[in-house]
Amino acid sequence: MNFILTKDQALQIAEKFGTPAYVLDEKTLRQTIRRYVNAFRSAYSHSEVTFASKANSTAGVVKIAYQEGCKIDVASEGELRVAILAGVPAEDCHLHGNNKSADVLRFALKSGIGQIIVDHFGEIDLLANLVPLGNTKILLRLAPGVDPITHAKISTGQADTKFGFNIVDGSARLAVQKCLELGLPLYGFHCHVGSQLLDPSAQVSGGQTISSFAEEMKKEFAFEASILNIGGGLGVSYTSKDVPMEVEEYCQKVVEAVTSEWSDKNYKPELVQEPGRSLCAGAGVTLYQIGAIKSVPAYSGRKAYVAVDGGLSDNPRPALYGSRYTVLPIESNAKSSITLGSVLDGSGNSRTATISGSHCETDRLFEDVELPSSLAVGDYLQVLYTGAYNSSMASNYNRFLRPPTILIRESGQYVLLQSRETYEALFAREAIPSDL
Ligand code: LLP
Repeated sequence: MNFILTKDQALQIAEKFGTPAYVLDEKTLRQTIRRYVNAFRSAYSHSEVTFASKANSTAGVVKIAYQEGCKIDVASEGELRVAILAGVPAEDCHLHGNNKSADVLRFALKSGIGQIIVDHFGEIDLLANLVPLGNTKILLRLAPGVDPITHAKISTGQADTKFGFNIVDGSARLAVQKCLELGLPLYGFHCHVGSQLLDPSAQVSGGQTISSFAEEMKKEFAFEASILNIGGGLGVSYTSKDVPMEVEEYCQKVVEAVTSEWSDKNYKPELVQEPGRSLCAGAGVTLYQIGAIKSVPAYSGRKAYVAVDGGLSDNPRPALYGSRYTVLPIESNAKSSITLGSVLDGSGNSRTATISGSHCETDRLFEDVELPSSLAVGDYLQVLYTGAYNSSMASNYNRFLRPPTILIRESGQYVLLQSRETYEALFAREAIPSDL
């Protein structure tokens, strides 16, 4: 399920809000979240979907995810504060992080955070000094030793990782022992093996590993885990080459594999998944305007560059991970005479171009994109599947203003979820010492 702007919508939004702009479709967002929650619940009734708000921490998005039945996964005090701002009770939030400070833990506990996913021994000590923990539940993040097939920069389940307690070297067992000795409210285990996983085998094996670890802890310490969290969700279809499994089949497979590890058939812990990307990526597109088209000498003939009015600062993923996207042209009514066809010799209805951003970097956003020869300066491009890990990863590199997020309501109305950043806000942190 994913959203594509119509030409009318694109032109109206560009006129009203300017470009670049992140656009989210409320209907697609709600339907996608509802489908995931229902698929997991049908596969296993005692289940919970937690929205990984790092994927899109716009307050309105967090609120919609909560309204659709998700709890909220937060990975910092900032994300927790956004959830609270969105009206989510802290008791429905789960706090992650491999290096939570005492201040962050104190803030979370004071707010009444529902769960803290503990990452290392020092954090156990910190929490032991911060007792009483009220109703907050503790889970231990485990490193299950699973190496998923995805980009190395977004794999986290392998043994060589900064996250969690390693099972193989005995750290995880020691962490359980320590929590029990200190009387901390330990409820269960968590693992997250990686992101943009199109096939569930890594999540299956992570889930099985923490399930069998839970069995061992029951035998050794008579500790029964009542929550097992198997981390992030499915990957998405950035291009036609990325084909994720249907969410219903995925949830079924993961549940079957994890539950098959349980020797006690009456054991029914809460099973949690915390998807981010798959809940919101497809509901979002980014709208850019083309400001320059040129051709340069290449190995064979000439090659075209099409420059848009954003880039690295609103979507760092191509530069960070070599990510590819689907880009669609939107021809405007006011056409310039500089077209893709005019800068390249020869005829043909479509041409291949590299789409670059406007930053002072190579800033190649999308390579080898097939576009119409008639595409001109002043036309628009929409990039699909940018509802996740785009606005939440945006920066101000080159002092670019971060784009607005526009929500297309189910009524068809356009509303702002985040306005375009202003230069006043951008420079609010500057301090020039008077004697400088
Ligand atoms: N839970 C934990 C503990 C996580 O670390 C993550 C993602 C998720 C859940 C959500 O995973 P998802 O369902 O979105 O795959 N910036 C990268 C992604 C980094 C993901 C980090 N953790 C990107 O743009 O691809």
